[in-house]
Amino acid sequence: MQLITSASFWTPDYIVDSAWLEHAPFAFWLMEAHRPRVVVELGTHGGFSYCCFCQAIQRLGLSARAYAIDTWKGDEHAGFYGEDVFQGLSAYHDRYSSFSQLVRSKFDEALPHFEDGSVDLLHIDGRHFYEDIKRDFEIWRPKLSSRGVVLFHDTNVRERGFGVFQLWPEIKDDYLNFEFFHGHGLGILGARGGLSDELLQLFASSNDDGSSRAIREAYAKLGQGVTTLFSNKMLAATVEAERQSFGAALNAAAEKEHAQAVAEKEAHIWPPMTPTRIWRPLYLALRALLKWRGRP
Ligand SMILES: C[S@@+](CC[C@H](N)C(=O)[O-])C[C@H]1O[C@@H](n2cnc3c(N)ncnc32)[C@H](O)[C@@H]1O
Repeated sequence: MQLITSASFWTPDYIVDSAWLEHAPFAFWLMEAHRPRVVVELGTHGGFSYCCFCQAIQRLGLSARAYAIDTWKGDEHAGFYGEDVFQGLSAYHDRYSSFSQLVRSKFDEALPHFEDGSVDLLHIDGRHFYEDIKRDFEIWRPKLSSRGVVLFHDTNVRERGFGVFQLWPEIKDDYLNFEFFHGHGLGILGARGGLSDELLQLFASSNDDGSSRAIREAYAKLGQGVTTLFSNKMLAATVEAERQSFGAALNAAAEKEHAQAVAEKEAHIWPPMTPTRIWRPLYLALRALLKWRGRP
């Protein structure tokens, strides 16, 4: 039984900007420890957390189905965004289409399409006002299987009206639970039956200060690695953009220099026909002619 395995060290294949970056190592571990058969995510946005789940399903060879539910329009907390977000995710997500679907709808509209007692892993990450989270949990709770696990992101955010930190203490003691504090906080609830030994060990450690602190520290450190990966990716993109614009500027300067050199050369061969250059030779020729005609 291990709370950190090689899966905890996997690198996310799909890294996009997200407040969820630091939970990728735990997500990989969780997928391996829990082996869910049906995964539902409420709130997917750019798809970072969801693609971690899909990556794990594929890599572990799980016979699971996964559903990402979102309007892909945004909300007051995530911000409102354009169609490009869905298009970008959809293009990447095609590789998972044998077991996963992007469901473009409101959370409550998608609800009737799922059977009660069918969802093994539910990730709640929609709009974060207290009433939203409470409602999302309440309407989706009947869908959880007898071995259901629920993830709540942002249990440790105390600004902009986020209310997960208020709901979490109200519900956590009715279930097995564990909470990470890093990466804006991640609350994990587990049903009281049917869970793997690894998950039971995780939940048991929440009653032990020493081991819960060690698990939190380990996953916070692993999570920092993912943030660093993302920062490096951003930095590399900035450097590449700078390199391209510098290259373009160099090319433009070289073209201008070349054009000037050509113009100077042409000016030398064909000097500009200024009035003096045109009339003076004519005048001289005429004078010579008259002189010649007027000779005795
Ligand atoms: C915090 S983001 C999700 C972040 C994502 N899990 C990640 O890994 O970065 C919240 C998303 O929930 C969606 N959303 C909020 N309320 C919704 C609702 N009632 N129905 C459908 N989508 C909703 C928004 O469109 C937004 O894309």
